[in-house]
Amino acid sequence: MTKKFWFASFQKIRVKASLFVLFLLVSTTLIFYFVTVRIVNNRVLDELIKRVESLSRGIASTAGYNLLSQDLLGLDNIVFRIKSSNPDIESVALVNTDSRIIVHSDIHKSGENFTPAEGIVFKQEPDATVIVEATGPSGSFFQVSSPIRFMNKRLGAVIIDINKSVLIVAQREAREKVAFVFAAILLLGVASSFLFSSFLTKPIHELSVGVAELKEGKRRQPLRVYSRDELGRLTESFNEMTALITTQQDKLSKYAQDLEDAYVSTVRVLAAAIDARDTYTLGHSTRVAQLSVAMGKEMELRSAELEDLEIACLFHDVGKIKIPDAILLKKGKLDPLEHREMARHTEYGAEILSKAPSLLKYIPAVRHHHEWHDGTGYPDGISGDEIPLAAAIISLADVYDAMTSERPYREALTEKEACQKITELAGRQFHPDLVKIFIRTIEKKLTEIKGLDQGGA
Ligand SMILES: [Fe+2]
Repeated sequence: MTKKFWFASFQKIRVKASLFVLFLLVSTTLIFYFVTVRIVNNRVLDELIKRVESLSRGIASTAGYNLLSQDLLGLDNIVFRIKSSNPDIESVALVNTDSRIIVHSDIHKSGENFTPAEGIVFKQEPDATVIVEATGPSGSFFQVSSPIRFMNKRLGAVIIDINKSVLIVAQREAREKVAFVFAAILLLGVASSFLFSSFLTKPIHELSVGVAELKEGKRRQPLRVYSRDELGRLTESFNEMTALITTQQDKLSKYAQDLEDAYVSTVRVLAAAIDARDTYTLGHSTRVAQLSVAMGKEMELRSAELEDLEIACLFHDVGKIKIPDAILLKKGKLDPLEHREMARHTEYGAEILSKAPSLLKYIPAVRHHHEWHDGTGYPDGISGDEIPLAAAIISLADVYDAMTSERPYREALTEKEACQKITELAGRQFHPDLVKIFIRTIEKKLTEIKGLDQGGA
């Protein structure tokens, strides 16, 4: 569990609400537990005292006659019976008015003088039961003393000692039972608090996710409305807002698509106009675009990349607008000066595109479509992988189309001858890998044409 995970968890309302309810639950349960334990402890003590007091009084009421008649056997019998039926009692003694022990549960103490325990007087009523909490060699104990009377004459007392450990054990057992009950309550409470928090915060969580999705343009469906309270009304408002935004987004997308279609149409018209200046290059840009896109598909370029490549092809010779007719339409070979001016159509094209921000992305392809793989091309003399991929593709398609088109000073080459020449130029003018892809593309194209021709025949 990372620090980031805990931080993210604490940012959730459900966790905050759960922790708050948990804190309240735990603190309330603990307070009630300690109060209950205190009550139970006192209750256990009261029960113990009452029992011993009752035993003591019971012995006192039955031992009077035996004591008066000096029936030691009867007294022994009483003491033995009480001691054996109450094993938690430490000792039972019958004492006469001279403080001499007549009968004791420990037979060795019979006949000894009795010394009352000294300690905290727990209960004292005149001429009645006295309870003292004291400490002896075997730890804390309670001493319960009840007077023995017969015919309104005091004959002695019953003395019962009970060790406090009995009370501690009883209290511990009671405390364990209470703890078990409270642990069950706490567990139930914790589970309920998490369930309740989840139930309460579910709409808030969904609303939060919905807002995030709407921000990213992913949400179109309305959220579920769980209740008719403030949160429900907020969700309904969110759903109305989502519907409004979705409608606006659809309209905008349609406008953008229409705009893009119009833009592409304009580019096609412009490219056709440039090509039309020279009858020999009529349809050149369109053919270069078709061939380049076919190569792009062979290279498995993404749809957006293919679209950009097509537009770049249509623009690749846009700079020729600035080339004078005397050079552009010259029938013979160009002299070096004219050739240099003609070569500048790449820079002119880049300059024209730089005027519109939306066309900037086509500049590398337009500027570098006459660069050579070995760095001897123009305008910048860059080489190898420095040449943008789109420019390298256009370069191949451009040269192939020029080779297979008729020129005033030469016949058009066949597809096979053009492919032969291009293969010879691999590594010099063109990237060797791209040449392989290009040849594959042409072969596929020719096979398709052949198939069509045969189908048509
Ligand atoms: Fe060109």
